[in-house]
Amino acid sequence: MKPLMITAIGLALTVPAVASAQDVTIGAALFNQYCSTCHGADARGEGPLTEIMLEKPSDLRKLAAENPAEPGVFPMLRVIHVIDGRTGLRAHGGSMPTYGQLFMAETEDEMEEMGAILETRGRVLSLARYLEDIQE
Ligand code: HEC
Repeated sequence: MKPLMITAIGLALTVPAVASAQDVTIGAALFNQYCSTCHGADARGEGPLTEIMLEKPSDLRKLAAENPAEPGVFPMLRVIHVIDGRTGLRAHGGSMPTYGQLFMAETEDEMEEMGAILETRGRVLSLARYLEDIQE
């Protein structure tokens, strides 16, 4: 193989790792902003708002360990659905607010709307990647 081709393959292989490291960083910032009031800065479910809450927020570091379907496996899809809420799975009931609509910017323009949808997905995914990263 030519050296140039090897470099290209090497680059292609490193890109996903970089992208997910960025996801985790972005997810951590989003978590601080939107989730820590209930779930706590360390995600263990002891945020300041819990004093006045009837239902205790989940310890988000145990999502993998306490996954009823597959113990030890991070329930990526369920987490994405819980955060997004637009899938209809848990849009109503439960005291966990959902973020799909909040992250989704209002726009009339069709192209902009597609951009907003992608950005919303990106944020939800970054949050889920961050949570996956802090499992114990
Ligand atoms: C107003 C308080 C509140 C805020 C803010 C909040 N949550 Fe929650 N969350 C809860 C409560 C209460 C539960 C447990 C009850 C439930 O599952 O609905 C929960 C449960 C969860 C679960 C576990 C669901 C499961 O199936 O085990 C995940 C994941 C989660 N929250 C993620 C987040 C993320 C990410 C954010 C920020 C984008 C966030 N939460 C913001 C209150 C909150």
